[in-house]
Amino acid sequence: MHRLEEIWLGLSAGVLVLFMVIVGYQAFALGMGPPSHKETIDPQKVDQTAPFDEPGVYETGENEYEVVMTLQSFGFNPSNIEVPAGAEVTFLMTSKDVTHGFQVPGTNINAMVMPGHIQKITHTFDEPGNYLVLCNEYCGTGHQMMSTEIIVK
Ligand code: CUA
Repeated sequence: MHRLEEIWLGLSAGVLVLFMVIVGYQAFALGMGPPSHKETIDPQKVDQTAPFDEPGVYETGENEYEVVMTLQSFGFNPSNIEVPAGAEVTFLMTSKDVTHGFQVPGTNINAMVMPGHIQKITHTFDEPGNYLVLCNEYCGTGHQMMSTEIIVK
């Protein structure tokens, strides 16, 4: 084999190994990965697992709210969400069946909600109004009807 060929082969193999080491270090040593994989839940037992056994809107502190929400074909529970403007709202979500989406157009809220995983998103609605919530993952025949509203007062 030509000397230069050997050098380039060696270099490309070296770069591959280097990248694998970097990615491996991030994934395992630093624990980087999809955030939704951090907390898991048995999708068959959502109704019996706290806090999802009682979906709803909870005041958790001064100007802080938590929305515990379950998603299933083809709806959001709770469907009547009302929070004050300027409050910090944390959405805690999981799916009871297939993968759904949680998107609020006009904000940067856009999340995938998968069965078996707990999704967490925090947002402050500064402007009062009615915010549309859409499922943006195809989840079945009723997908296009899967929507609700967040009322910010
Ligand atoms: Cu749920 Cu599409």
